[in-house]
Amino acid sequence: MKRAITLLTAIVLGYVLMARTYDNLVPKPLEVVPGEGTFVMEKGMHLCAPEELKSESSYLVQHLEKVFAFDVPVSDVPVYNSITMRMADGMEREAYRLEINENQVVIEASDPAGIFYGVQTLLQMMPPAVYGQTCMELTRYELDAAVITDAPRYGYRGTMLDVSRTFYDTEHVLRLLDWMAYHKLNRFHWHLADDNGWRIEIRKYPQLTEKGAWRGDGEVTPAAYGQGHDRYGGYYTQKDIRRIVKYAAERHIEIIPEIDLPGHSRSLIGVFPEMACDTDVEYTSVNGETDNVLCVANEENYRILGNIFKEIASLFPSEYIHIGGDEVDHTAWNNCPHCQALVKENNLEGPGGLHSWFVYRLDGIISRLGKKMAGWDEIIIPDVKFDPATMVYAWRSVESGRMSVEKGYRTVVQIGEYCYLDMKQSEAERGHRWAGVVPLSKIYSLEPDGILAESAADSGLIAGVQAGLWGELLAWPPRFMEYQLFPRLCALSEVGWSSRDARDYGDFEQRLYEKHFSRLYNMGINFRLAPPDVTFDGQALQVRPPHPSAVIRYTMDGSAPVASSPVCRGDIVTDRPEKFRFAAFFGDGLSSIAVGASNIELYHYIDPEMTVESNFPLSAKNLESLAGRDGVGYSGRVLQEGDVLTYAMASPVECSRITVSSGDPYSGLFYITDAYVEYTTSDGRTVNAGELYHGSLSFVPSGAVTQVRVVMTDSNDGYTAVLRGLEIEE
Ligand code: ACM
Ligand code: ZN
Repeated sequence: MKRAITLLTAIVLGYVLMARTYDNLVPKPLEVVPGEGTFVMEKGMHLCAPEELKSESSYLVQHLEKVFAFDVPVSDVPVYNSITMRMADGMEREAYRLEINENQVVIEASDPAGIFYGVQTLLQMMPPAVYGQTCMELTRYELDAAVITDAPRYGYRGTMLDVSRTFYDTEHVLRLLDWMAYHKLNRFHWHLADDNGWRIEIRKYPQLTEKGAWRGDGEVTPAAYGQGHDRYGGYYTQKDIRRIVKYAAERHIEIIPEIDLPGHSRSLIGVFPEMACDTDVEYTSVNGETDNVLCVANEENYRILGNIFKEIASLFPSEYIHIGGDEVDHTAWNNCPHCQALVKENNLEGPGGLHSWFVYRLDGIISRLGKKMAGWDEIIIPDVKFDPATMVYAWRSVESGRMSVEKGYRTVVQIGEYCYLDMKQSEAERGHRWAGVVPLSKIYSLEPDGILAESAADSGLIAGVQAGLWGELLAWPPRFMEYQLFPRLCALSEVGWSSRDARDYGDFEQRLYEKHFSRLYNMGINFRLAPPDVTFDGQALQVRPPHPSAVIRYTMDGSAPVASSPVCRGDIVTDRPEKFRFAAFFGDGLSSIAVGASNIELYHYIDPEMTVESNFPLSAKNLESLAGRDGVGYSGRVLQEGDVLTYAMASPVECSRITVSSGDPYSGLFYITDAYVEYTTSDGRTVNAGELYHGSLSFVPSGAVTQVRVVMTDSNDGYTAVLRGLEIEE
């Protein structure tokens, strides 16, 4: 055995020793030609760069300082034994050439962005500490000689972040921009206003952020997404925005601001109720919001929006401003006398015509400000023609992307089933599911040209790709945003940058695990680790790590492993396999979800006969469903303090544990925020089992149970509460 381990160590070490500094790059470059020898980085090394590359050269020096014990002086004249940045003619936009030989390192490009991407490649060749979480004091480091010739496949390589539903402060946004830059991503689509919060200071209308940036009790927008009754929110001042825009520009990232209109406008209407239609008819949009659609016929709306966009246009140098345009509920328009009069006067085709009318008006506002309009793919559903420079973000399906290119629009591929990083990464993990489960391999498999299918549309209309992260579920667990983004954003970077032929999922995974995880770790990212694959063969638990360098820890009592749990070094012989839980660990504190063997029952449930009652309206069908373990019930209204749901057992139930849950099983939304659970035992005692935490509670009853009651102590958020059947363990 010892011999085998020694041999294995030798093989692993051998591989590591064989790996060259130009291996394991993400995204994979176009061409790497290995050279002879190494370039030695040591004291005396200069960085030579012309004045016009001052930003790129100081960026590189700042990073090199994280690993070297010596300073790297910057010079604008050539110095022997140096890193040289040089502008060259005739290269494509953002392309670069990086040559490393025994005498020097040369980065050449025809634009500063290309130089910047050469710098990113060079950083990936350095020890991961170059990204700055731990300090190194190297006196010497060798780069393997090579010539790398590289250029992006697409000009648009983006990330969209929804800061309306979950707010991220300036520092957090700056960190995200850093992480994007490290992956050669160059567009940040900033979803700044939606139903649940207005996040950008508009000087002319300070109430938009004084009121519209906050939700909770007594605020203009109600509590949402489990944040309960506390005041929740935040916004960016114009000073913050200028700082973020500048920081992004230094990293060659353009920021495209979005104000989502005319639907998704609850926070705007909360501040200016007169912007809504003239009707009392109630509606709930597909995403569960009321009062969130602007009136199309109200001329004053366009004046206010014009003023808002004027300030936005002056803050963002981007070519495009995104006006949203998605998921508009038509009820208000159909019932508003002014909208209906507009339809008649202009012979519009119903609500679709009103939608186009609104988008046209905004297009006019945006173009008068010297900008181009961008919007979600619904803006082109009615057969109307916008300026061909309009950029359409295809999100609903491959077909909606095809529609966009066939109609001749520049199209960003952000299709939900590949690019929505709010989707779950596996069935067992937290996340949305309406567009399916989106594991790493799924986003990697995106082929943007796939939207063309058989059509004759011009592939040049595909501007690029973007990952999107919506904020409904990001408030917990801590740093879930990073968990959802990485490593899936690494895959997206390769879809956007690397050539079609260079892409290979196995090879990508190898580079990820060999080196890139260490980079992400040093960037300080709380990235997602895949759990191990565990099965039971009748005698032993067989544990396969998700990748060769993962450390697997385990417990034997059904609890989730922690960093101090024992390390699993092989198969585990046991006659109690259902009690074991395993998780993968990386570095200091990152871990995967905990899993047990996938081919056995981990829990022994009992399904006793019971009836369910409520003191609030719930249909007979819902009550019947809730009497079963997988049952789901929708209250259809907000629950209030004093509302009670009672699970009454037909006869006393002896069990080891009961779990009470709430919330939609698919989306995790609409759970109960404020409630406690009590139960009654066969000897007549009533016991308080505790409060729900993020909508659920597990407890060990102190006797045979005859009743379990969920007692609301305050209203839940959202327009409905979702109740669930009890899980009762033997
Ligand atoms: C969207 O996901 N509603 C663009
Ligand atoms: Zn109206």
